[in-house]
Amino acid sequence: MPEPVLKLERITKRFGGLTVLSSVDLQVDANQIVGLIGPNGAGKSTLFNVVTALYRPEEGIVFLDGKRITGAPPHRICRLGVARTFQLVRTYLTMTARENVMVAAVYGGGAMADAGRACDEALELVGLAASRDLITEHMTLSARRLLEMARALASRPRVILLDEPMAGLNASEIEEMIQVIRRARDERGLSVLWVEHKVDAIMRVCDRVVVLDHGVKISDGTPAETIVNPKVIEAYLGEPSS
Ligand SMILES: Nc1ncnc2c1ncn2[C@@H]1O[C@H](COP(=O)(O)OP(=O)(O)OP(=O)(O)O)[C@@H](O)[C@H]1O
Ligand SMILES: [Mg+2]
Repeated sequence: MPEPVLKLERITKRFGGLTVLSSVDLQVDANQIVGLIGPNGAGKSTLFNVVTALYRPEEGIVFLDGKRITGAPPHRICRLGVARTFQLVRTYLTMTARENVMVAAVYGGGAMADAGRACDEALELVGLAASRDLITEHMTLSARRLLEMARALASRPRVILLDEPMAGLNASEIEEMIQVIRRARDERGLSVLWVEHKVDAIMRVCDRVVVLDHGVKISDGTPAETIVNPKVIEAYLGEPSS
């Protein structure tokens, strides 16, 4: 069996007396798109913050391609190949689209010449090549979410963590984002861990879906298995209306 690209073993995270993640195991295999869903406050963003070392877990280990990365600082983890987007878009509003992506490409560890190429390829993949010189504050929310995706791609990751990339988008913008996520996997060979409340999109696109509830993993399986899991229906999905 090949190593999973990303593997989390028994991750526990507490804030004071509050246990936000309880011994969570999770893995993302090569070329997989894995959905991470669950109610508000379930610990999804906290899990991303642990993987990218913004938070240090009380217990547990994160492996990238079989190598332990827990304890490395955030910039090192990015350079090793983990990129992410944020639930609240974090672009530099006064910079152009290309400058935003360039910052991420350089942070990702590329030489300047390579960074320029990585940046243009990332803008092309997300469909923003023609908008490269726009000042970011003049871009729509949808374009800024695509720009965040381009920033993540420009650091040449092995795996990308997407935190609600579709929040606030309309139906056609959601379709566009789905195409971009699929292209990232198919054209770049990336693995994707994707947090989202748009459950329909998750179920259509993901190879596997992991469900968190109050920091506990309650389900891990195919979309078809997930939607009929009684624990998931009770904690998050609700009964299907007939
Ligand atoms: N820095 C922090 N200090 C204290 N508590 C925190 C901190 N960050 C998150 N929490 C708490 O951890 C829990 C999980 O939050 P988290 O943001 O990970 O949830 P989430 O699953 O991403 O929810 P949502 O779907 O609303 O984005 C919440 O109870 C939240 O209040
Ligand atoms: Mg969140």
